Amino acid sequence: MKPLIFSTRNTNKIVEVSAKLGGWPLSSLNDIGCDADIEETSETLEGNARLKAHYIWDQYKQDVFADDTGLEISALNGEPGVRSARYAGQGRNADDNMNLVLQKLETVFDRRARFRTAICLILNGREYMFEGIVEGHIAREKRGMTGFGYDPIFIPEGNSRSFAQMSIEEKNYISHRGRALQAMKDHLRFVD
Ligand code: IMP
Repeated sequence: MKPLIFSTRNTNKIVEVSAKLGGWPLSSLNDIGCDADIEETSETLEGNARLKAHYIWDQYKQDVFADDTGLEISALNGEPGVRSARYAGQGRNADDNMNLVLQKLETVFDRRARFRTAICLILNGREYMFEGIVEGHIAREKRGMTGFGYDPIFIPEGNSRSFAQMSIEEKNYISHRGRALQAMKDHLRFVD
């Protein structure tokens, strides 16, 4: 198993990814002593995942992957999408972001939404992209305590519970990130 750097400091993501890649030797940005603030300036999830992965490859020349995720709500024309982290404004938190979504959808009947994750993997300088999508809908109120970000208001298709009411393993099995990681894992099996 090739050691990989996961270009993130988000401890929630590290926990999910470590559980999904079970036993794979992973290092986060903190583990490698990288304190750079890699700016996510792209207008697409794919572009931001590329920025986060290429920065590390350029600096360290080590195999690396990065993910970028967006919540895409049908009735809001795909918002918050690539702006998911700062939807309620710079310096606001996940609660503020969820409150804004709930407020915008207060009188909206169509609550369809999906999470989409783009992963950029760089192996020996070569780039590979993976995508994972989970369809679902936005709940009327927050539910559950696990997970992070928008998890308390997202109900995946075929479920009655939000992501924040599931274990990491349950979420990973059906989630956007879990699916993108599975695609990456399948690919890694075929390369040394
Ligand atoms: P990023 O991938 O770190 O740029 O995430 C963008 C935004 O989406 C942040 O506000 C995250 O909290 C949120 N987010 C990312 N992944 C998830 C997830 O798996 N569940 C809920 N929210 C997420």
